[in-house]
Amino acid sequence: MKKSLQIAEEELIAFLQQNRLVYTGTKEISQQLGIHPYVIDQSIKELRRWGFEILFEKGKGYRLWESPDFLLPRKIKKNLKTKILGKEVLCYRTVGSTNNLAFRLAESGAEEGTLIVADEQTKGRGRMGRDWYSPPRLGLWMSLILRPDIPPFKAPGLSICAGLALAQAIGELTGLDAKIKWHNDCLLNGRKVGGVLLELSAELDRINFIIVGIGVDVNQQLTDFPKNLATIATSIRIEWGKEIPRIKLLSSFMERLESIYLDFKKNGLAPQRQLIKKFSSLLGAKVAVKFGKEKIEGVAEDIDDNGSLVIRTGKDLRVVTAGEVTAV
Ligand code: BTN
Repeated sequence: MKKSLQIAEEELIAFLQQNRLVYTGTKEISQQLGIHPYVIDQSIKELRRWGFEILFEKGKGYRLWESPDFLLPRKIKKNLKTKILGKEVLCYRTVGSTNNLAFRLAESGAEEGTLIVADEQTKGRGRMGRDWYSPPRLGLWMSLILRPDIPPFKAPGLSICAGLALAQAIGELTGLDAKIKWHNDCLLNGRKVGGVLLELSAELDRINFIIVGIGVDVNQQLTDFPKNLATIATSIRIEWGKEIPRIKLLSSFMERLESIYLDFKKNGLAPQRQLIKKFSSLLGAKVAVKFGKEKIEGVAEDIDDNGSLVIRTGKDLRVVTAGEVTAV
């Protein structure tokens, strides 16, 4: 009879969805699901807090009226046509950071492809020690555990893979011209709509695991962004003018990423290079790249087979493997 609240919630939603035309009493739900009546009442409270409209009539019980855009493992898996990515899916309402959680799970042996998704992050992290604003239900805040058998120096290519998959998924679902800004950002109309944070556990010559953290601003409106982000960030909804079900975006992203990832593991980035260049926002532009104390200015001329940015500074070509790049 003892089931965790999360599992209880998920089973309860599935039950209410299957029985959405009728009212069902707590006792009957309890018997059918093997969940204690107290847990059912607590779960109903929690679900209402998350935007589920659940009707109640005395003597009849509960009936589901309206479901929000809610992420649940069962729902995600049902929509997913992947073999490895998302084989295991864990959904949380509120976490500090999905990357932190994924890291701990990976350390204790979670398998390749495990996906961790949260509706809200309270300590979401971006690159360069920045915070990543992750309000409830408006975005996709997720981390994937990967265990590729590749040398550690090739790992950064994976953030380009993730950016490419995201830009393709956004394009496919909305028709918008999403771009990758080398090598971690995804842009819509020049503003940041998503970012990738790659974290590694590795020895000198081998990777234990990689956490690919992806944040996507999906359904925010302008007023949902704090002031410091309002001029640089955007959401798919703002650019497209319509809300988009997060689960659709998630599935499309995961399917695209899986096919890119399988290819990347075997053949590196080279086969994707033309596509990466096509989606790249920077090629041909004057850019400045900062890494550590060094700064290079020049024209972004190419992205090579390793995913490095090739910058022309006068007569010289500089190959940049990491850093923060801005158009100038
Ligand atoms: C960046 O552009 O700076 C990278 C942002 C990455 C944010 C995602 S949200 C899910 C995952 N968990 C985190 O704490 N960060 C990443």
